[in-house]
Order: sequence, then structure tokens, then C-alpha cells
Amino acid sequence: MCGIVGYIGERDAKEILLRGLEKLEYRGYDSAGIAVATGDRVELFKEKGRIADLRAIVDPGAEGKSGIGHTRWATHGVPDVRNAHPHRDESGRFTLVHNGVIENYGKLMNVHLAGVELKSDTDTEIIVQLIGKFAGEGLNTEEAFAKTLGLLHGSYAIAMLDEQEPETIFVAKNKSPLLIGLGDGFNVVSSDAMAMLQVTDRFVELNDGEIVIVKKEGIRIRTLAGEPVERAPFKAELDASDIEKGTYPHYMLKEIDEQPAVLRKIIQAYQDESGKLHADAGALEAINEADRIYIIAAGTSYHAGLVGKEFFEKLAAVPTEVHISSEFGYNMPLLSKKPLFIFISQSGETADSRQVLVKVKALGHPSLTVTNVAGSTLSREADHTVLLHAGPEIAVASTKAYTAQIAVLAILAALAAEGKGMEPRFDLTRELGVAANAIQSVIDRKDELETLSFEFLEMSRNAFFIGRGLDYHVSLEGALKLKEISYIQAEGFAGGELKHGTIALIEEGTPVFALATQAAVSANIRGNVREVTARGAKACIISMEGTGEEGDQMNIPAVHPMLTPLVSVIPLQLLSYFAALHRGCDVDQPRNLAKSVTVE
Ligand code: M6R
Repeated sequence: MCGIVGYIGERDAKEILLRGLEKLEYRGYDSAGIAVATGDRVELFKEKGRIADLRAIVDPGAEGKSGIGHTRWATHGVPDVRNAHPHRDESGRFTLVHNGVIENYGKLMNVHLAGVELKSDTDTEIIVQLIGKFAGEGLNTEEAFAKTLGLLHGSYAIAMLDEQEPETIFVAKNKSPLLIGLGDGFNVVSSDAMAMLQVTDRFVELNDGEIVIVKKEGIRIRTLAGEPVERAPFKAELDASDIEKGTYPHYMLKEIDEQPAVLRKIIQAYQDESGKLHADAGALEAINEADRIYIIAAGTSYHAGLVGKEFFEKLAAVPTEVHISSEFGYNMPLLSKKPLFIFISQSGETADSRQVLVKVKALGHPSLTVTNVAGSTLSREADHTVLLHAGPEIAVASTKAYTAQIAVLAILAALAAEGKGMEPRFDLTRELGVAANAIQSVIDRKDELETLSFEFLEMSRNAFFIGRGLDYHVSLEGALKLKEISYIQAEGFAGGELKHGTIALIEEGTPVFALATQAAVSANIRGNVREVTARGAKACIISMEGTGEEGDQMNIPAVHPMLTPLVSVIPLQLLSYFAALHRGCDVDQPRNLAKSVTVE
């Protein structure tokens, strides 16, 4: 949430900052701003809305060799120019951008800043006002910066310019992601390596509680206490083309289309030369030593976790619970004697999940992160990491990460079963290949899905998704997808549960999408469909070869019954995509959302 960039070198800073912000826009997009050090002053440009809106108001003549920028997802204060970053202290000397939440900002204001007139409603302004105050009392900039950070409670990634020292960017991090990119005669700051791939692929990770003094010739890292830190850079294994839309109108459509290839890449990544599946030995040992797995995740990753539970229990016989991360940390259930915590997160940065990781680590429990982003916070802080290999996912609505999570969880469960000497239930590698082909054949039916989307969702205010067993888990994901990008109120339900209350909402024409891929409960879900159609609902049945009946709106190719979510989710992703498109919604950047949710 919120994206930060910084540049110091010999080139025109504003263009590098704006291009970096364009790549970070997925992190938040309600306002944006840049500050550029032009000689003896720092010029500030801020605008409500997207980076394109900001670009339109930046003075082309504002040439400077250093600067910082920010794209915002509002936490404190409405999204407007006043609350857009960068923020300045009272004297105008310091200019700062911040990602995160300062929990004690009210107290800091009362104790240290009485009499200071704030220009915004943000917690961020308190940081820069404190730095200004301490500098005014005689501390040098680095001392004032460090003293202020020492007072903050909460999360922050910060970059700051001092008008009197334009050849330096002051940087700090705690709980919010931030990287330093290294160049020849320049250095950059970025929330995400993707944003600065345009200028470098060498990055240095920062740990919580570190300060970095960034100059064009080099960087110096220290702890808050002043201890020097040495850290080698790493090379970002990202291809610039991975983060381009190419000829696609939206990232979401591109990412939906990439799913067969992602599945094949996963099979390749987790196969040795002899074609046998393998994965990180430490991760597998941790699974096999656990008497119970606790899957912790949010949103789409939570929905993938529900499918993962089925794998761990049915393939590897490990009891598994799935928890919403924002609930678990503050309301922990009784834990088993030897728990393993598996964190599922596309971004690896979700603050709700991280607070659980911090707590379970403090209790001494082992942890494994399943993520798409190597080097992300959840990856670095867990004992083990298993990667999704899905390539960068940029659309806010998660699609390929969901199918990748399911595939990787299936591989982990199958390998855990093998480690326990259990007979494999089926040839997973082969079945994942079959699923990749099945996904492709559903993707190839876009026209049909566009027509169905129009027919069922064009006029509707709400929609229901129902299923049983694995289909129920997928119906939750289908509903999330639809509501987040089309703003149609949508709910996923276990087919049998609807009649216990929610059926009261069914009216003439209410769309109900029913998944019927599970042979064992096919008759039951069809019974549930009859219950709603008898009350006026318009049902769209998505079945699978072998469970289909005359009149089903879509019949998807057969895959192994345990892997149906990989394929049955595809029509739901595409139905949502077309519903959002027909309504003129911003598909890739839906309102009020951000791609990585780095605040609790
Ligand atoms: O990066 P994460 O997987 O931890 O993100 C979790 C959720 O914020 C995310 O899945 C969210 O629900 C998506 N926007 C749904 O499409």
C-alpha cells in the first residue's frame, strides 16, 4: 500500500520518478506527488488521482538531480491534494514521503508539536514536523531523522530530502517494504524492484530499524542505534517484459491468459531431471514434523488456503486449519503441540499476515511462506519459503497467483505424503499438465463467457455464487473477484446453506452462479439450484465433463476431482472481467483498493 521512489544521480530526476511511480501505481492510486531538488530549493508537485494526473501538472522545467515520489492509498485523511505526499515541515526545509501507519501520531503531536499548525490530516506530516523541530533545536539532519524514528510506533518506509543537503536522500524502514537500487553514478529508492528495473537490476534489501544515507556515489546503512551495517546487493531476477501489458487492454486479462503457462512453469520448477517432483527439503521436513498445519492468509490467498487444506488432509493426512490473518493474530485458538504455520501471500507483504508471523515466531513456532515474491517480508522472516513462480501479478484482482498457490500447495502436500511413505493418490505432475490444458480450453471460450456475463450480470445489483466441497471454496473466490472489480454485491455460499437465511434475498432475476464439478454432491447442488430458481433466480450452472447435464450454461473439461478449482475458477475470473468491462469500471485498479495491503 502506497509506493515510494527516490533518485539521486546525474539525470533528470522527475522523469525517473514519474516512470517509477507508474510502475508502482498498483500499490495505491488515490493521489500522488513528487519532490525534486532543483538547486537550492525543493519543488513539490502533488495531485489527486492517478500518476497521469500528476504528470500533467509537473513543471517540465523543474530539472533536478535528486528527488522522491509517492503514490498513495489513503489511511489518514481523505484522498486529496492536501493529504497527498510528499509532506513538508513548518520551515519548508524537509520534504518526506511515507508508506505505513504511525500508531502514536496523536500522542507525538500533543507531546512534541504543540503550536505547530498541520497542513494535512495525515500521520505522515507528524514525522516531518518532528524532524524539522529537532533540526531547529540544533541536531544535524541525520541525528534529527534518527531521533524522530526512535519515537515512532508503527510501520514506515520513509524517504526524505533536506533542502540544505540536496545531494542526499535519507531513508528508513520498519515493517513496510523498501529497497535501495544501485547504479553507476546514481542510486535509487523503491518500494518494489519492478519500479526501478528501468535503471538498475541490483538492489540492497533493508531490514527493519535501519537508516540509509543515499548519495549518488554510494550508500551507507546503519541501525537506529548508529551501528554500521554491511550488506551485499542481489540481482533482481525480473524481466522488464514481465511487467508490461503488451497488446493486452488490461493486466488482469493478460494474467488470466498466463495461467496455463504458469502451471507449466511450476511443474518445471518443482521437477528434477528425472521428472520427479521435489521441493525445499527444510519446508517438507517442517510439514512432516507438524501435528497440525495452520494456514494463515487474506483475501484470494485465504481462498487458495481453503483448497490447500483439502490437499494436506486428504493427500498427506495432516490436520489443517485455515485462518483469516487479521482475525488470527488477535484471537488465537488453542494450538496443537507441534504446529506449523503456512503463510500464503502473493505479495509476501500483507501486514495482516505479517503480524501473525511476528507473534508465532515469538512463541517459537516454525513457519513457511508460500509467496510469489522472493525476498519479500514474509519470505525473509519465515523459516522457509516456497515460491509460486507466477511472474509479477500487477492487476489488483488476483488471478494467476490463486491458481499458482493451489498448484504449489498440491505439490507440497503430495511431497509430504511421499515423505511419510504414503502411496500417491494420483500422478500429480500428469494431472497438473491436464489441468493446464483444461484452463487453456476455457480461456479460449472468452466470447461465450462475455455473452454469459452480459446475459447474467448486465442489469444486476447483486449476485450469488454457490457450490459444495471444493466448489464452495471456488464460489467464495468467484464472488470476491466479481465484487472487487465490478462493484456488484456478490456473495459465495455453500449450496446447502443458502436456505438457512440468505435465500430470502433471491428475487425475480437474481443471478446465481452454481458450480457443479463435484460428482459426489452434484445431485445436491442441482437441488439447491432448483430451490433458488423456484423463487425466481436466474441460474448459471458451470459443470464439468462427467457432471454435466443438458442445459448447463458451461461445461468445462474434466480434470482430477481434487484439482477442479484450478479450472472452475477460470470462467468466474472471466465473467467478472467482462462484467467490470461492460460497466466501464477500472479493471486493473478498482476503487478503494491497492495491490499489496501493507497496513493492518
Ligand atoms: O498479497 P496477498 O496474497 O497476501 O494479498 C492478499 C489479499 O489482499 C489479496 O488476495 C486480495 O484479496 C486480492 N485483491 C483479491 O483479488
